[in-house]
Amino acid sequence: MVNTFFPTHWNTDLILDQLDIHGFCVIDKMYDMKYFTALNTECLYSLNEFRAAGIQNGVVSHIRSDHILWLDDAQPLAKQHTNHLLALGKVFNQAFFMGINHVEAHFARYGQGEAYALHRDNPQQKNDRIISTVFYMHDVWQDDWGGELRLQDKHDLWHIIVPKPNRMVIFDSHLLHEVQMSKEQRLSITAWLRHDDQVW
Ligand code: OGA
Ligand code: MN
Repeated sequence: MVNTFFPTHWNTDLILDQLDIHGFCVIDKMYDMKYFTALNTECLYSLNEFRAAGIQNGVVSHIRSDHILWLDDAQPLAKQHTNHLLALGKVFNQAFFMGINHVEAHFARYGQGEAYALHRDNPQQKNDRIISTVFYMHDVWQDDWGGELRLQDKHDLWHIIVPKPNRMVIFDSHLLHEVQMSKEQRLSITAWLRHDDQVW
């Protein structure tokens, strides 16, 4: 049972409709500026702890060049965000019987020239990720700075989504997508709503 709530201005009916119809949804003005700025500061403060996302267990993959930091209780403001997402996951469970019971999240930083090639977040439905969310938290973004999220919707139509500050994209983790090359520092929280089997 999660006793946290998400901000009342989040339009859950719209989110549910868009997810159902297209398999993804874009929400702007997610948070008030006070929280947004504090979250941005929390992220910038820990930038020196970020590690190359393409290296896992010493194995190098060339699919992505960003740097990430997995979130835990050391980032209390980001934790509030993931708690909101868990509450939103409960709404998805009621509507779509998704069985979401866990959120997994990291900060991500794309520097100049960095990108993430075409991929799915849940290849072969193997890793229990059901819904992907990306929240953009750099303080400014210009349309010619690249870094767009290119996403194929559930009807195979492609969409180009500019990573505007304080915007969140929610999408089915099975959908194919990529991050186009960024020309400036691009900061985000990627969080996955997951269904994990209970371990007794
Ligand atoms: C990811 C991802 C998209 C984005 O982290 O898996 O696809 O827009 N992120 O940052
Ligand atoms: Mn992804």
